[in-house]
Amino acid sequence: GLDVFTYDPGFTSTASCESAITFIDGDKGELLHRGYPIEQLAEQSCFLEVCYLLLYGDLPSKAQMDDFRNTVTRHTMVHEQMHNFFRGFRRDAHPMATMVGVVGAMSAFYHDSTDITDPHQREVASFRLIAKLPTIAAMAYKYSIGQPFVYPRNDLDYASNFLHMCFSVPAETYEVNPVLAKAMDRIMMLHADHEQNASTSTVRLAGSSGANPFACIAAGIACLWGPAHGGANQACLEMLREIGSVDRIPEYIEKAKDKNDPFRLMGFGHRVYKNFDPRAKVMKESADEVLELMGIHDNPTLQVAKELERIALEDDYFISKKLYPNVDFYSGIILDAMGFPTAMFTPIFALSRTVGWISQWKEMISDPALKIGRPRQLYTGPARRDYTDLSSR
Ligand code: SDX
Repeated sequence: GLDVFTYDPGFTSTASCESAITFIDGDKGELLHRGYPIEQLAEQSCFLEVCYLLLYGDLPSKAQMDDFRNTVTRHTMVHEQMHNFFRGFRRDAHPMATMVGVVGAMSAFYHDSTDITDPHQREVASFRLIAKLPTIAAMAYKYSIGQPFVYPRNDLDYASNFLHMCFSVPAETYEVNPVLAKAMDRIMMLHADHEQNASTSTVRLAGSSGANPFACIAAGIACLWGPAHGGANQACLEMLREIGSVDRIPEYIEKAKDKNDPFRLMGFGHRVYKNFDPRAKVMKESADEVLELMGIHDNPTLQVAKELERIALEDDYFISKKLYPNVDFYSGIILDAMGFPTAMFTPIFALSRTVGWISQWKEMISDPALKIGRPRQLYTGPARRDYTDLSSR
């Protein structure tokens, strides 16, 4: 009768913790951040305002928003010595590998924001992570393509700055297209937080031991990288390209249904949503908008995605298993149209989710009743037995 899945602080196999940040109703396909529907935030807010909402619980006043934006803006550069870390990696390293390493290395630099018992240091660590993750992700991209690092610009908004750091080169300035910047900002909003997903639970578990906040976020990045989680956006676009044309879709639908075939439709299904992922709906609209702007009218990948979604949603297997497109199904099409290689899709997910990880970490670490997370197990090994000498084995 021992409930082996229950351990302090109130972590259980189903509800891993209490949190006031994000609410998901998987059956209704509802996602709320501090009570605000994601559809309204995606339409009317901006990523930095959603960061403020997630961190502090309410939408900011103008003065609060200006102050928050100024503080983030003044933390966007990384310590110049951190440039050396990139040079230790192979050029063909996956940018997620680089990000795990460099974000972890922040714990060796920013000593004045690692005492998690000091609320001010927790704030500084939070600002540094939100501000520097785009810079580090852009540096990982530049390093992978052999181009020089581009410094952030304080006159650009958060999403425009990221595009600038990724696509500007010393030989010519990259003019940020405002529609692409808004699409990038919307992608960041749609990925900001998502309750107790695997990478957020990783950050919470690591943080519950009092570990260095930068090391905890590096752990979250490592977990997000998996193709069943944040790595699905890269895997999904690569799958859509492999399918290549709508007449090959039935073959892949059958593969996805074959229990003996490890193939999964990437960007489909979810641990919680048994209805449409509300983020996927917004992402789909954004994909149409961005491709229209880019003058890409007959994008074969988008055609395959839309036809695959239509066929799957009419297929008895997918209906019975309640499988719908998730946040990763359309995001890659937008990022590809913007000029990003597939290897940069998950780093963009990671830099967007950093505010969710930090908000959840801060919520947990500031709980005076916090105890270290200590999952239990259901033991299935041999019963107690005595050692036997080698000579008798
Ligand atoms: C993210 O947790 C979060 O909130 C994550 C996330 C976030 O914002 O943090 O939303 C981001 O990670 C989204 C998910 C991205 N991953 C993918 O798109 C990869 C493809 N999807 C699957 O691997 C899968 O759907 C999971 C891992 C996401 C969920 O897998 P589960 O837990 O098996 O899902 P389920 O229990 O609802 O599956 C029901 C059935 C199972 O078959 P049976 O055991 O009942 O026979 O459907 C099958 C699954 O095998 N199934 C699929 C499928 N997903 C589930 N079959 C074919 N293709 C798929 N994509």
